[in-house]
Amino acid sequence: MEDSIALCALTEIDDPGAKGFDLDFHLDRYGRPLRIIVTRLGDKAFGWINSCPHAWVPLDVEPDQFMDMTGQFLLCANHGAAFTLGSGVCLRGPCKGRKLMSFPLKLEDGMIKIKSYPDKEG
Ligand code: FES
Repeated sequence: MEDSIALCALTEIDDPGAKGFDLDFHLDRYGRPLRIIVTRLGDKAFGWINSCPHAWVPLDVEPDQFMDMTGQFLLCANHGAAFTLGSGVCLRGPCKGRKLMSFPLKLEDGMIKIKSYPDKEG
C-alpha cells in the first residue's frame, strides 16, 4: 500500500466545515469501511473517527450532514452533542467533556492525506 493516500483538496471542504469519508481500504473490526470525518478550520484540517463517544454511533444521520445550525460545531444528530472542529471535544450533550477519537491526517500541497494507519486493535 502506498505511503499516503489523498482524500481531497482542503478547498473541497467548507471553512469552517466537515466532510465524511468511508475508507474502503481500512476495515473496522466488523469488516465495514472505517468512517472518518475531516474538519476544516481555515488552513488546517483535522481527522476524526465518525463515532460519537456517547453511544459509538456515527454522528451523521443524513450522510455528510455534520454541522450544527451555527455552522461552527460538529453535531451528533442522534442526541445533539456538539463538538469543536479543531479539538474534537464535546461542549454540550450527553458526552460533554469527552472527545472524538482522532485520525491522523497531513496537509501536502493543498491536499488532505492520510498520515498513517491507526492501530486496528480496540
Ligand atoms: S450518540 Fe451522540 S450524543 Fe448520543
